[in-house]
Amino acid sequence: MTTLKISDGLVKDDVLVVGLASTNTKGGIAIESGDLALDVEYLISSLTDLGATGAADEVTKMPGGPARMIVFTGLGSKSTSYSNEILRRASGSAARMLNGASSATFAFPTKDITAVAAIAEGVALGAYVFNEFRGSTKAERKDALKSATVYTKLASKTEAKAAIHRAQIIAKYTHLVRDLINTPPSHLTPHSFTKILTKSFKDAGGLKAGLKVKIWDEKQLKTQGFGGIIGVGQGSANPPRLLHIEYTPKAKNTKRYAFVGKGITFDTGGLNLKPGLGMEAMKSDMSGAAAVCAATLAIAELGLPVAIECWAPLAENMPSDSATRPSDIITIFGGKTVEVLNPDAEGRLVLADGLVKAQESKNKLDGIIDVATLTGAQVIALGTRTSAVMTNNQKFSDSFLEASKDAGEQFWPMPLPVELRASLDSPVADLANIGDKNGGMLVAGLFLKDFVSNELPWLHLDIAGPAYNEGKAHGYTPVGGTGIALRSLVRLVEQA
Ligand code: BES
Ligand code: MN
Ligand code: ZN
Repeated sequence: MTTLKISDGLVKDDVLVVGLASTNTKGGIAIESGDLALDVEYLISSLTDLGATGAADEVTKMPGGPARMIVFTGLGSKSTSYSNEILRRASGSAARMLNGASSATFAFPTKDITAVAAIAEGVALGAYVFNEFRGSTKAERKDALKSATVYTKLASKTEAKAAIHRAQIIAKYTHLVRDLINTPPSHLTPHSFTKILTKSFKDAGGLKAGLKVKIWDEKQLKTQGFGGIIGVGQGSANPPRLLHIEYTPKAKNTKRYAFVGKGITFDTGGLNLKPGLGMEAMKSDMSGAAAVCAATLAIAELGLPVAIECWAPLAENMPSDSATRPSDIITIFGGKTVEVLNPDAEGRLVLADGLVKAQESKNKLDGIIDVATLTGAQVIALGTRTSAVMTNNQKFSDSFLEASKDAGEQFWPMPLPVELRASLDSPVADLANIGDKNGGMLVAGLFLKDFVSNELPWLHLDIAGPAYNEGKAHGYTPVGGTGIALRSLVRLVEQA
């Protein structure tokens, strides 16, 4: 993890990173180094020779400057007020190019503390490598940037120091989510997921930080009636688990949210086996569980005054002689029965158990949020960089969307049309696990809605596309697990 600092003094780091903007369509460029003065004329002529344009995700390295190397990162069109997300992405792009470097100063325009926070976040989020499973080549692999300084005149403000501290925690837990997603499923089973989280729980301060953890094994799940988790996990040699992390803040009479995350450590489709092409991406099918657990630990480490009850139903969806068959009927926790017409629609089954269990809370909940890589239809509808929000409460959804905007995560509201609900009717059980193919993302949302009280504000976040980047790295987003949803959840809680 990159150590973040803040300064308005002399540049002491090995590398200086500044912004580069385009001023017109004819190749005009401008250096944007905020509060740090530079000999611009000389640099501009070198940059022009190199063909730098200032486009987003363009990173140009040059020897010299006040440090040993100067790095220009694209901000797009020149502006008097760059958005925080532009700053976050530009600093992330540069940080990604600085593997092996020991220290870098980042000088961009910082109009206020939120800009400082965005730059710090972008740097720490971009500086991520996953080399855990490199064998003989591991020693040759460079580590991520060790230390970064955000250069700003606001450095002496206490709010600026707090922003740096917060960025450090956000990055630490986003990296945890990414590591969990990137870990191959032979190493990340339901059991090992609980082991890793138990360790992180201790690192986050454990009981002292107001955290509590509880784990259900397959025997307890069976005897206590978690038919969704058991039904999905019973085909695998790696038995299912239910992980519960509770955070009680020091402050009394706070709001209380429940989080529920889909934790399928690998989704083969079960007996409805998925085609081979692309199945490898299904190691990311636990992204929702990873995001809610890590967000809970981040909220605890930040000491935010909101209580969180986090649930991660964990299972591996495998085909075998013990797997759930199409036409089998399972009983979700609480008694509703589901005819499993397609064992590949498994996420909603484990989430149903989780949602019902979460609502058993002895304390009154102010909201419940589930996070899941739930449907391929989400990716078709919104692509790989925009996630969906569905809800039974417009106000709750609006405040979440505001939080996600602040956090720099793209979410978009989707409807839950009542007329689609009938397609989930079953001739033999309370409902079926699949319905109309058209609007598959919404049908999945309607399935979950059946397991949530109408009185409880609920959000369903389908992150199927954005959770896992199968394309190129961009901005502060690496290839593989992205950590999407964590920042929005933390922001929502800060806003509460
Ligand atoms: N985990 C998948 C959804 C998914 C697809 C996530 C692509 C990320 C990328 C989910 O369990 C699934 O298989 N959904 C089915 C549901 C269908 C059978 C109703 C789907 O979307 O095809
Ligand atoms: Mn599936
Ligand atoms: Zn799945």
